[in-house]
Amino acid sequence: MHKPHLLLLPGLLCDARLWQHQAADLADLAHITVADLSQADSIAGLAEQVLAQAPDECFALAGLSMGGYVALEIMRRAPQRVLGLALLDTSAQADSDAAKRARVDLMGQAEEDFAALVASLLPKFVHPAHLSDPALIEVITGMAHSLGRDVFLRQQKAMLGRIDSRPGLVQIRCPTLVLCGWEDVITPLTLHQELATAIVGAQLVMIKECGHLSCLEQPQAVTRALETWLQRLPG
Ligand code: MLT
Repeated sequence: MHKPHLLLLPGLLCDARLWQHQAADLADLAHITVADLSQADSIAGLAEQVLAQAPDECFALAGLSMGGYVALEIMRRAPQRVLGLALLDTSAQADSDAAKRARVDLMGQAEEDFAALVASLLPKFVHPAHLSDPALIEVITGMAHSLGRDVFLRQQKAMLGRIDSRPGLVQIRCPTLVLCGWEDVITPLTLHQELATAIVGAQLVMIKECGHLSCLEQPQAVTRALETWLQRLPG
């Protein structure tokens, strides 16, 4: 069987460690690359970098949260290059005015005390049951501290300026998976129901006992959903 390229896009303050389980478990089904989303301060700039560095002309694309915002921008710019789309714990909406104010506030907190800010984000990132998993928390804080405050500020600036992706959803024609943790408080279930309703033929998977960082919190369930999705890709 032809092995497609699978491009994985991480979320805020995350890197390849976010996708470590899927990268290992899906290696038989796809050539896997994890993009670096730390270097631009706009979603358009991040999408351009991903497209310029993509290892192949066509690829399957999976993004979590901010990675999903970038994936939707790629669908606007180069839909012909995307064999399949997986949107995890994300949203097609732009920030509301209240969400913009909250982001600016977070940016101020990061300037003051980045370590305290990272600690305060943990209960939003994971299901309460996972807060007491030291290995998981170490991976999340490890990623956040390797990326650091300046990357956090750039990524927040990028997300602040993002546009509403909902008008383009109806044009998406590739096999699409929409997945979220039931208890995702950053991008809740309703946002995924909206995505799955608007994208033709999208499959919606909701994962129990799972917050925003589904790939790390429930790795096997996420890998299974991605496996099924990869099997739906053309060719
Ligand atoms: C992310 O996980 O990428 C961000 O929390 C998403 C957001 O802040 O909108």
